[in-house]
Amino acid sequence: MPLLAEEKYFLQQGIDLATYRNCPFDIRMVLQKPNKVWRLTLTSAKVAQKEDAVVTNVARGAKDYPLQDILQKYDQRRNPLVTIRELVDLSHQIASVLGSAFPMKIIGLDMALDKKGKIWFLEGNNQPQCARCKLVNDKLAREKYEEARRWLQGKKGP
Ligand SMILES: Nc1ncnc2c1ncn2[C@@H]1O[C@H](COP(=O)(O)OP(=O)(O)O)[C@@H](O)[C@H]1O
Ligand SMILES: [Mg+2]
Repeated sequence: MPLLAEEKYFLQQGIDLATYRNCPFDIRMVLQKPNKVWRLTLTSAKVAQKEDAVVTNVARGAKDYPLQDILQKYDQRRNPLVTIRELVDLSHQIASVLGSAFPMKIIGLDMALDKKGKIWFLEGNNQPQCARCKLVNDKLAREKYEEARRWLQGKKGP
């Protein structure tokens, strides 16, 4: 008897997530496209609150922290500037590819670091929840996010 029903599934390779104080974390990068180009507005590190957690979704109890803080302190620490540069570069590439295939104006990317420092792309969300992520961003980032949001809402109107 087949293990799976008729539906289609795809399996992702399991990633040995990097940890902060022994708890796994992943990374949220929010990009918005108020006009012609994608802008990176919010970032955060979502840290599970249990050492053996399998998922690091905020909806499942993980907590948002400022990305730069976690990159400076996590257990397998690498050069934070190199990591952030790569995250920004990759996020723009992913937004550009997805944005050319789908009519997206905002995208929340789940990225992960493995314990060796390699960056992975986990998933893209086209309606990302940003309320808690916003709280761990600086004023400039929050203003940029709100400005892009207003711009997009304005465009949707009559
Ligand atoms: N390939 C993977 N390897 C390890 N952990 C993963 C992997 N894919 C997802 N996760 C973990 O599971 C969480 C939820 O997965 P995700 O693909 O973001 O689905 P969703 O947010 O829609 O539930 C991620 O935030 C991450 O903590
Ligand atoms: Mg997710």
